[in-house]
Amino acid sequence: MSDLPPSSARHYPLAMEDWWKEQVELSDVHTLENLHRNTSVLSDHFTIKRDKGFPDYFKKPGHLLAYGIYFHPKSWARIRYPILEAIKYHHWKIPENKPLSILDVGSGPGSASLSALQLLSTLNPELKLEATAVDQSPHALDALRRSHADLRSLWPGSSINTHAKNLRHRDTFFYSGKQRFDLVFLSFSLNEFFAGRPIEDVVVQLKAACRKLLKKKGLLIIMEPALRETSRNLRNIADRLLDEEDLYGWGPYLHQGPCPFQETGKFWCHEVRAWRPPNSMEYVNRRMQRKIHELKYSFISLSPSPPPASPSTEEHFRMVSPMSRMKGHFLMTGVASDGQEHVYELLFRNLNTTQKRTLRKMERGDFLKVQNLENVGKRLRIPKFEDIIQHFHVG
Ligand SMILES: C[S@@+](CC[C@H](N)C(=O)[O-])C[C@H]1O[C@@H](n2cnc3c(N)ncnc32)[C@H](O)[C@@H]1O
Repeated sequence: MSDLPPSSARHYPLAMEDWWKEQVELSDVHTLENLHRNTSVLSDHFTIKRDKGFPDYFKKPGHLLAYGIYFHPKSWARIRYPILEAIKYHHWKIPENKPLSILDVGSGPGSASLSALQLLSTLNPELKLEATAVDQSPHALDALRRSHADLRSLWPGSSINTHAKNLRHRDTFFYSGKQRFDLVFLSFSLNEFFAGRPIEDVVVQLKAACRKLLKKKGLLIIMEPALRETSRNLRNIADRLLDEEDLYGWGPYLHQGPCPFQETGKFWCHEVRAWRPPNSMEYVNRRMQRKIHELKYSFISLSPSPPPASPSTEEHFRMVSPMSRMKGHFLMTGVASDGQEHVYELLFRNLNTTQKRTLRKMERGDFLKVQNLENVGKRLRIPKFEDIIQHFHVG
């Protein structure tokens, strides 16, 4: 975690963790020992009780503290994957000689925007950064402003603006200012704004948001829970938006068409990343026993500008399953730049120990380029390890 380089997707600064621990220590009622109760209530709220709607749950100080210790680190980590993927794999350019602007819609205590500020400041220390956060909860926005001010050394060249607004019944989408942004985030908030509303409404509003809020080379990143329902909804939205002439997908897939899983319905497009939670989160989890060593989410990245062209082929793909070992094979499923789902295999007997170790470390979400594929029944065989000519992994 904090021992990882500050540019790593898995880095969570100790100072950020300590800030939230201090907020708990300042409370007369809450302690790390008893915070699991509020955490469990919130966790149920985000999963099994979600159909009951989403009030300002940060009104209760215990909920805000539970969020800061338990949910904030996960959101912090998740947003870094699509950002790093865009910059390092798709060569999305950080603007030169002008500030980079971020809009965080449904920001909560700034889990996504603060993480982006720290990451982008690390990648380019000269960069000026301006973040705008909008949320219905003044309590969450207050925590965002205070942590931003208290931890200046994590994001030295940055400023932050906050707007407390209920965005549910607004015609003007999300933000009524005139500014356009380089990055717009909807991190685990879309499903709350639109709970119970028809998907057509969401698509119309997102189209308008892309036109009004994004700069020509800007990116809209939407992250949602990896639940079947939320992931399939998000993909449905993405597929409709990609039908538009003026919008392009930058992730998760390499192609611009629909997701091949939407038709079959058996699987759904989502990410799973191995992760090490901060100690305070582990501590609270002792009384909850949830699986917290994986980050699970679904996401889409969209822009008015196309990503670098990726010719349609089965040889260039994103891993959409874990790497598994079965009957003498390594097996993985990929969605390739031809827009199709394929199963790829490597024969175990052709691999030495180092190669096997490398393959075991490959993770869902990695990109591979391969060559010399052979058709073996319904699978595509990668004949030799050396036929993997490119492997990209967000570290
Ligand atoms: C699950 S939290 C996500 C917070 C943060 N973006 C993150 O990634 O951790 C959802 C956020 O959306 C906000 N939200 C939900 N409905 C809203 C609405 N109608 N208007 C404004 N904000 C809303 C909540 O207050 C909350 O901060």
